Amino acid sequence: MEKLELLIREAKKAMKRAIAPYSNFRVGVSVLARNRIYTGCNIENPSLMLSECAERVALLKALSEGEKQIKSILIISSDGDYCYPCGSCRQLIYEFAPDADIYIASSKGIKKYNINELLPYGFRREGDED
Ligand code: THU
Repeated sequence: MEKLELLIREAKKAMKRAIAPYSNFRVGVSVLARNRIYTGCNIENPSLMLSECAERVALLKALSEGEKQIKSILIISSDGDYCYPCGSCRQLIYEFAPDADIYIASSKGIKKYNINELLPYGFRREGDED
C-alpha cells in the first residue's frame, strides 16, 4: 500500500478512538518514524486544560519509544475540513520532528507542509544547534 494511503488509514482508525465528549471534534494523527507508524487521537478531560491533542499523543508515543527521526506526520479530523495543528503542537514538531513532511488531510484533498511554513521563527534557545 502506498505510504500516504497507509498513513490516512491509520490516522482514521486512531480518530475513531478519540475521547472528545466536550468538543465532539475528533482528530487522528499518524506519525511515520524510521520503520513504523505511531498513531494518536485527542483525549479530553473534564479539567479541560488537561486535554491532549492528537498530534502530541502520537509524537510523544514515537519519541518515548526512542524514535529519533520522524519522517511524516498526517493529521485528519472528523469534520472533514483541514485541521491545522495548534501552536503548542507546532512547537513540539519544530523541536522534535523538524524534517517531517506534514500532511493535512480533509475530504477536499491533502495539503503538504514543512514546519518552517507552519511555524516561522519557532522558539529555540540561543546557542542551541539548528
Ligand atoms: N485538537 C487536536 O487534537 N489537534 C488539533 O490540531 C486541533 C485540536 C483537539 C483538541 C480538542 O480535543 C479538540 O480537538 C478541539 O476542541
